[in-house]
Amino acid sequence: VIENVVVNKPTFEYKIFIENGLLVKAGEIIRTNIGCEKIMVLTNEILYDLYYKRLEHSLESAGIEVFPIVLPDGEKYKDLKSFRYIIDRLVLQKINRESGLVTFGGGVIGDLGGFAAASYMRGIYLIHIPTTLLAQIDSSIGGKTALDHILGKNLIGAFYNPHMVLTDPELLTTLSESNYLCGLFEAIKIALIGNRELYRYISENIDEILEHKKDKLEYVVAASAREKIKIVSDDPYESSLRMILNFGHTFGHALEAVNRYKDISHGEAVGYGMLVALKLSESMAGLDLKKNEDVYKLIYGLLPKREIKRMDSEKLWEAIALDKKKQAGSPRFVLLEDIAKPVIKEVSRELFFKTVSQL
Ligand SMILES: NC(=O)c1ccc[n+]([C@@H]2O[C@H](COP(=O)([O-])OP(=O)(O)OC[C@H]3O[C@@H](n4cnc5c(N)ncnc54)[C@H](O)[C@@H]3O)[C@@H](O)[C@H]2O)c1
Ligand SMILES: [Zn+2]
Repeated sequence: VIENVVVNKPTFEYKIFIENGLLVKAGEIIRTNIGCEKIMVLTNEILYDLYYKRLEHSLESAGIEVFPIVLPDGEKYKDLKSFRYIIDRLVLQKINRESGLVTFGGGVIGDLGGFAAASYMRGIYLIHIPTTLLAQIDSSIGGKTALDHILGKNLIGAFYNPHMVLTDPELLTTLSESNYLCGLFEAIKIALIGNRELYRYISENIDEILEHKKDKLEYVVAASAREKIKIVSDDPYESSLRMILNFGHTFGHALEAVNRYKDISHGEAVGYGMLVALKLSESMAGLDLKKNEDVYKLIYGLLPKREIKRMDSEKLWEAIALDKKKQAGSPRFVLLEDIAKPVIKEVSRELFFKTVSQL
């Protein structure tokens, strides 16, 4: 007998709390909403020195037993070796499905801890406490977890949503300028594809945002996170809609690859990628760049003024073609008909070369 059974995709809800000063309330919120009595906190040496005591105190005051797992800092630790180390620690500490894992750090710690929480016992409670701007508005939302393989970034991973995200924008005051800027480019990206009001806010308050003014930052984090939540909830497994999150990234990823991920940060590459996308949007999608001149200026103004060694159109085009894997036709770019009106279009080699030469 052949049976055709339809299995509904499970729906999954979780709460994201965003508030200045939230870190000290973490214990209370976790205890009331999730109720685990034992928690492992995955973090790195930098965050451990800066804030771990505060987090530990908050968790312990709520009656939660806490054990830290502290890794060295850096993307190079988002690997299988760290994964194994984390799993070993979970086993030794007798963590079970009533216990939880808190990731306390940027995207590296979040991706790594997310994958460990997804795999250990097929899934334990996962709570993200993101500490970089990028992690607060981007990587902690959407359920993507990952590890790097020597042969490729994010090659190993799974979709695993956290059970809760606790976001404290005040933690961002200790970020380095370059990492802060990295997150800011992602905030501008999300505003441009989805929210004109947020774009206006960022552009009108850019000086204060650059000075890390607390209330401005809290607004930007909350509004950007809300925007990302909207997009990923409509497309949890990245089948279509979520592609618009790649605005600025088609070119950005190529620029990073051509520079061998050295000399250029992800944010800076995405910044250039957005400039290219804006120009392409003017040529192909009817974006009025005269009317929206300030968009181009805002992004351009945030980019470090230095020579990019490899703005080689030929190499970039090759990298883009390689990245698009087995899709047919020309590479597709996310473009804008207007602010908050994204469209996806195939771009020809000729137009690409012309656009890059005008950067
Ligand atoms: N899962 C997703 O959807 C997703 C999305 C985008 C990026 N990512 C991943 O995120 C990673 C990049 O994340 P990132 O930019 O947060 O990098 P990161 O985690 O390396 O953090 C950047 C630096 O800031 C330090 N730091 C973090 N918080 C700090 C604080 N509050 N004060 C002072 N220093 C602090 C870190 O120690 C590190 O040196 C990449 O591995 C990328 O693949 C994942
Ligand atoms: Zn990005």
